[in-house]
Amino acid sequence: MKAFEDIQNIITTELETINWNKDPRGLYEPIGYVLSMGGKRIRPALTLLACNLFSDNVQPAVNSALGIEIFHNFTLLHDDIMDRADVRRGRPTVHKKWDDNTAILSGDVMQIASYQFIAQTPSEYLKQVLDLFSKTAAEICEGQQYDVDFENRDDVKAEEYLEMIRLKTAVLLGCALKTGAWIGGAGEEDAQLLYDFGINIGLAFQLKDDLLDVYGDEATFGKKIGGDILCNKKTYLLIHALELAKGEDGAELENWLNAFDDNLSNQKILAVTSLFNRLGVKSICEDKMQFFYTKAIANLEKVSVLENKKQELRKLAEKLMFRND
Ligand code: IPE
Ligand code: IPE
Ligand code: MG
Ligand code: MG
Ligand code: MG
Repeated sequence: MKAFEDIQNIITTELETINWNKDPRGLYEPIGYVLSMGGKRIRPALTLLACNLFSDNVQPAVNSALGIEIFHNFTLLHDDIMDRADVRRGRPTVHKKWDDNTAILSGDVMQIASYQFIAQTPSEYLKQVLDLFSKTAAEICEGQQYDVDFENRDDVKAEEYLEMIRLKTAVLLGCALKTGAWIGGAGEEDAQLLYDFGINIGLAFQLKDDLLDVYGDEATFGKKIGGDILCNKKTYLLIHALELAKGEDGAELENWLNAFDDNLSNQKILAVTSLFNRLGVKSICEDKMQFFYTKAIANLEKVSVLENKKQELRKLAEKLMFRND
């Protein structure tokens, strides 16, 4: 059984062997840039750890894992345009360092590259992996569209938010796990349990991301604190704040949601954050995160391999809940 650190080393080494030093530079340089800035690499780690539950040899899952990580990085290039985000992994985003067109086209070619890696999945699993990957990719677009649509609504329900984050974030974690499980030789029942584990970890993961976007530390989180507030993102925090804010609080929140003046950005972040604090929505979000984390662990427990083999996945899940980055 491989430790998480060994798995991380395999991924980092393999990612470094990909040559992005090609022409036209304007297309490929941003890809080398974003991939060299690290990131937690949790999706490919999930693929290899899931594979490792059923097989000592994780090598057959490496290309699929890389495809998933490159796809994830592609979504970040487009997401940062959509979210008007200037900083990622502590560095200027691609659309800031270059421009929107660069982030669009480099993103496009990354998506193609991700399919080229997925295509190298061992042939006996290729059809099912490709089908799941394509379905997942379309779901992420659906989730991203809901996310953007919700910016302009103030009646988004908690259930709608949860479905949106299932699509934009959780399905890729589920896909990463199921892909690894299949390639490791898992039966369908175990592969599905790992998918469900991924969905629940993914929902908790996005709730945590939303919390860090307000309460995190910019240096370790690597993204600008308050970005979601400035976009009027209908996070679990804001949805509950809208529901709970009455009277003066309600009017104040409504006012800030209609404030788009860049000069008021810092004031808006401070004011909305103190409304969140006053209304106690942080703990509502944390409770929900804990709820999905518990469900995830229950899914993992049902997977029919020896308990001690699940240790690394359990450790990773826990780490994601307590992370600051
Ligand atoms: C960021 O994903 C996008 C979300 C789904 C919240 P990560 O937090 O995994 O980003 P990196 O890859 O570690 O930078
Ligand atoms: C990202 O959600 C989901 C995808 C990139 C598909 P966010 O917009 O919250 O991710 P960050 O916070 O920018 O990383
Ligand atoms: Mg987004
Ligand atoms: Mg974003
Ligand atoms: Mg976020």
